[in-house]
Amino acid sequence: MKTKTKANFLTLEMFETIEIIELIDRAIELKHGARAMDLSDMTVANLFFENSTRTKCSFQMAEHRLRMKEIPFDVSTSSVQKGETLADTCRTLEAIGVDMLVVRHGETGYYEQLQNELNIPLINGGDGSGQHPSQSLLDLMTIRETFGQFTGLTVAICGDLAHSRVARSNVDALKRLGARVVGSGPVDWADPTLGIEHVGIDDAVEADVLMLLRVQHERHDGTMAFDPGDYHAAHGLTIARYGKLKDHAIVMHPAPINRGVEIASELVEYPKSRIFEQMTNGVYARMAILERAMRMKKEMEMGTSR
Ligand code: NCD
Repeated sequence: MKTKTKANFLTLEMFETIEIIELIDRAIELKHGARAMDLSDMTVANLFFENSTRTKCSFQMAEHRLRMKEIPFDVSTSSVQKGETLADTCRTLEAIGVDMLVVRHGETGYYEQLQNELNIPLINGGDGSGQHPSQSLLDLMTIRETFGQFTGLTVAICGDLAHSRVARSNVDALKRLGARVVGSGPVDWADPTLGIEHVGIDDAVEADVLMLLRVQHERHDGTMAFDPGDYHAAHGLTIARYGKLKDHAIVMHPAPINRGVEIASELVEYPKSRIFEQMTNGVYARMAILERAMRMKKEMEMGTSR
């Protein structure tokens, strides 16, 4: 662990590689029926300032499975609408006794300042175009379940790389775990800061893992013309390209999917697709994340960990 705020889960960069593997393996163990921690003495609030189906519901499902009690929080009916800041909202929840916060927010790196103002664990459910560590963990879990390891694998991440927190979280972790990562998609959306080779989609389909991304329209300034059919033909997974995938290759997508844009609609349910399995895995990955945060919190309170 490279940070003083041990119980937080903000980025995968915070963790040593061995710790990432431990989390993945705990998630897989939970999926296979291992006994989960009983956190029935713990309360949690999920603060989603950006839209979410999967991340929010699977955190809630993970919380249920760990018997945590959720304090419902809805941004649209909260005092955020009266001008309260994110930090004051979070401190309020801490003051009333909430043990942990899961936060998704549109501001990249919103947690940088916030983490210093809280004494309860903060779990990042996605920050702007920054990081999405719980998604990354479930993606890594899905790859490990399929291939057993990462060394020797090529993972092609395809689409709106520049605006994708999923890409940013995954590239670093995958490289550290030993995979080769390449990017694909419109060159205008290539991101040199990711430090990966950019290839065309017809080269990307030679990878072992094809990870497709949704075009992040909400993070664009609206000046670029976009035609879904043209995008699909030039950068998407078409039926013809699916036919060129390796026998053992898998197709992933964090969803929501725009069918017919980044992937041909029928391919979503084809055998190489792991898209719905990723969603199932997301619950176990988040159970592992929550268990760790609560274990750390308890250890810190007992003074057995600094
Ligand atoms: C992703 C996100 O919100 O970053 N979705 C998710 O959490 N499963 C990807 C996206 O919205 O495109």
